[in-house]
Amino acid sequence: MTDMKFDQTTISNAVHTKWAGKTVHFAKEVDSTNEWAKKLGKEGAVHGTLAVAEFQSAGKGRLGRRWTAPPGSSIMMTILVRPDFEPQYAPMLTIVMGLSVAQAAQEMGVDTSIKWPNDVVVSRKKICGILTEMSMEENKIRYVVIGVGINVNLEELPEELADKGTSLYLETGKKYDRNMMLASVMEHFEKNYERFVKTCDLSLLQEEYNDMLANYEQPVRILDPLNPYEGIAHGINRKGELIVEKQDGTKVCVSAGEVSVRGLYSYV
Ligand code: BTN
Repeated sequence: MTDMKFDQTTISNAVHTKWAGKTVHFAKEVDSTNEWAKKLGKEGAVHGTLAVAEFQSAGKGRLGRRWTAPPGSSIMMTILVRPDFEPQYAPMLTIVMGLSVAQAAQEMGVDTSIKWPNDVVVSRKKICGILTEMSMEENKIRYVVIGVGINVNLEELPEELADKGTSLYLETGKKYDRNMMLASVMEHFEKNYERFVKTCDLSLLQEEYNDMLANYEQPVRILDPLNPYEGIAHGINRKGELIVEKQDGTKVCVSAGEVSVRGLYSYV
C-alpha cells in the first residue's frame, strides 16, 4: 500500500467535489504548501484550489515551529478559499477543517476524536496539524489558505513528538491510501464550509463537533498562565469557544489561541 501512487492524476481522479480540491497542484518537493498556495492566490487561483506536496523542505507549524515528514508517509496539503465574509470569521475555518479531517479519519474506520480546538486525535495522540493564514486587501479577505498535515502511514515519529503525536498506521497497523483520505477530507470540508458560510459561525456544525470532542462533559485543566483552573468541558458554542464550568458553577467561554486545555491526566 505504501507504494500506491500519489500524484496530481491519482488525486484528481479520487476527488469528487464541486469546488474543494477540483484544481490540484502537485509537487514532489516544495518549501511549504502554505507558501505555495499563497503564491497561487496572488496569481489568481480559484476558490478551492489545492496544493499538495510529497515533501516540504520548510514545512511550517503553528507558533513558528517546523513541520516535517518523510516522503511517502503523510498528506501535506493546503486549500485556498476566497470567502465573502468579514476577516474576523476566518480563524473558525481551522475548526471547520479539523472537524473535516476527523470525519474523514472516522470514515476510514479509525476511532477518531477532536481535542479542542482543532487537534485530530487517535488513541489520545495527535495525527494532524492545521495552519490557517489569511491575506487581506482594504479590510477584506483576498484569500485564506488552510494547510493540513496528516500523519497517515508514518512508521515512526521523532522522539520529541512520540508522546503527543502518532499516525494512523502506528495506531491501527494498517496502511491507508492517501488519495482516498485526501478526497474524503475535501468532501467533508466542502460540505462543512458551505454550512459554515450560511451563518458565519459554527451553529450548524456544533453538534457534530461536540459529538467528536474528546473531553466532552469531562474534567479539563485550563492552562491559563496567570490563573490555571479546572472545570468540566461542555463543548463548543457557535463561536468555537470551549464552554467550561468551573467548580463553583460559573461558566467560562474559553477562546482558542488564548490558553491551552488538557485532560486532567494527559495531553488530551
Ligand atoms: C501545527 O503546528 O499543528 C500546524 C501544522 C501544519 C502543517 C501543515 S503541512 C501542510 C501545510 N504546509 C505547511 O507549511 N504547514 C501546513
